Amino acid sequence: MAHQVRDTSGFAPASHQSLALCLGTLGGSLLLWPIAVWGFPSPFRFIIAWAAVGLGAWLLSRSRWHWRLHELGEGILGSDFGASPAAAELLEGKHIHRDVNRLLNVAKTKFADKLVLDNSAVEFEDDGKGGRKLVGWGFRCEPGYLTDTAVQDKMQKTFQSGLGGFWSFQFNPSRDTFTATKKSNLPRLVFPPLWPVVRGAEEAKKLYLGWKFKIGVAAGGEEIGFSLDKWSHVRIIGETNAGKSVAIQNWMEQFRAAGWMLILGDGKGQDYVGYSNPNPDDHNLPVPGTIAAGSGASTRGMGYVGAIVTAYQIMQERQLSSEQDKIDNPAGWNMYPPLLLVLDEIKGMREKWKTALSGDEQKSVESMITQLLALGRAFRVHVVLLSQDAYVDSMPSTWTSNTPLAICLGKPKDNTVQKAFEKSVVPKVRQIRESMDPEIKGRGLFASVDPITGASDAMEYQGYLSYAPGESWDNPKIPSQAAKEWPKFKEQVSDKVPRLWTRMWFRIDHKSEAQRGAEAAGEPGLGYIDFDQFSPAEILRMERVALDMRGASGEIVPKPDMAKYDPCSPLYVCRAPLGSRRVLNPEL
Ligand SMILES: Nc1ncnc2c1ncn2[C@@H]1O[C@H](COP(=O)(O)OP(=O)(O)OP(=O)(O)O)[C@@H](O)[C@H]1O
Ligand SMILES: [Mg+2]
Repeated sequence: MAHQVRDTSGFAPASHQSLALCLGTLGGSLLLWPIAVWGFPSPFRFIIAWAAVGLGAWLLSRSRWHWRLHELGEGILGSDFGASPAAAELLEGKHIHRDVNRLLNVAKTKFADKLVLDNSAVEFEDDGKGGRKLVGWGFRCEPGYLTDTAVQDKMQKTFQSGLGGFWSFQFNPSRDTFTATKKSNLPRLVFPPLWPVVRGAEEAKKLYLGWKFKIGVAAGGEEIGFSLDKWSHVRIIGETNAGKSVAIQNWMEQFRAAGWMLILGDGKGQDYVGYSNPNPDDHNLPVPGTIAAGSGASTRGMGYVGAIVTAYQIMQERQLSSEQDKIDNPAGWNMYPPLLLVLDEIKGMREKWKTALSGDEQKSVESMITQLLALGRAFRVHVVLLSQDAYVDSMPSTWTSNTPLAICLGKPKDNTVQKAFEKSVVPKVRQIRESMDPEIKGRGLFASVDPITGASDAMEYQGYLSYAPGESWDNPKIPSQAAKEWPKFKEQVSDKVPRLWTRMWFRIDHKSEAQRGAEAAGEPGLGYIDFDQFSPAEILRMERVALDMRGASGEIVPKPDMAKYDPCSPLYVCRAPLGSRRVLNPEL
């Protein structure tokens, strides 16, 4: 039993049951007093008799109260409860408040004799309808009861489903107490602050060490940030509509502002349009920061593979020169421009490659990702993997183990909790999950395993809703407050990012073997080089070329002689002529 051994030394410490019976009997007998004195015309006796009736009635009401407390459970309220001022707090009129009643019933039926209500943790809030609603409560437990995380899980689940709503739990096993609150300190909507923007390449390289990108805010408004210098690579799991695109755009604006190079693998082929589309007002260049982008929309998703190959080759170049670099410049040999490779919809891409590529081709693409994850950090090449789930089919275990930071957007499914997170952090993630409100957009939880100490941590947060190139604050899907917050962010952050690095792509002078083979076999020529027909090996053998240069006025412009290798140029050799793709029009 969690409560103390019954004290029988006096009236006050007696059980509610004893008190109710005792007071009830006394009250009843006092009610009978007038019968004893009726008919005696003494005014003194008359007054005494009616006073006794009053006292009897009061004793009966006390008796009823103690009986109610007895029904709720002797142990669960603690022995001093009836006399404490907190008891009155729990009343609603003459009855126990309905929320408390429910809470105590759940506690009593599911955890009989294990819990004692902690009066000081009970909290109400105005329910907006002239009444009060329970928003906080807690229990003291049997010593040691809470040390078992399975017990904590069971408690969360039971109270969550028994009481309804979303409660956030705090367990304190060393003090044998736990509390639950509905008052989430997490804001429902947060816009990012105006990130500082670097001015030059050297500043960007220096900033890298220790620089943190911020994912949003935790309870209490604390900013949550991570340095990739420490955490290497990230995986983001989120079902459809969970907020992946919003999250990654928030991050990318920060990476751009910090002067990073971005390489984008766009699984759907339309999520990063704002980052890869040529801007006619800026010499047909995409926004500064993006140095390569590839779409996964085609049959084989080779544009996406092109993005992976670009990052892989950059890492290889850095790796190959690192020995000499170290000799030449022992202090600053690794001051490379930091690079972020974003691989969106990786689950869908792997599925596509499974059917569209040969086994060896798929292996070679995935091996590049594996190598980037294993070695990239030393060369400042970092990867963000985005997937809709955490099944091994979506993300092999070698990738999972090389991404020490996992972020889950939206309320994760039970299965995601099992698969997406390190074992050591699963109990905590499960607790957080239980209290997450799936209705709130932008909610996420991160779980990290410190690469140095091995310590794991998990926390819920509210992600920033950031402006990103190509987004509009007039979009009806975006909360209306964006119209106030985004214009200044666009002006002072997004539009201020300097162009520090050249874009790059491949020197594509010949058709792929597959395309030549098809033409030799009599298929009609396409009239352009189809990038999608290259094999990963062919792309890997291609030379990469820089697409931009500094013009006479100091401004960055596309290199005219590289236009045919530039995916943003109308002269790109792999551009399908307008109308060359057959599209079936379904309209009748
Ligand atoms: N941090 C946030 N704050 C406010 N609203 C958000 C936030 N994140 C996402 N949303 C809202 O949720 C909706 C879905 O987000 P998003 O498009 O990023 O989902 P997704 O995971 O990329 O979906 P899909 O898998 O379909 O691409 C958006 O329309 C946006 O309005
Ligand atoms: Mg998306």
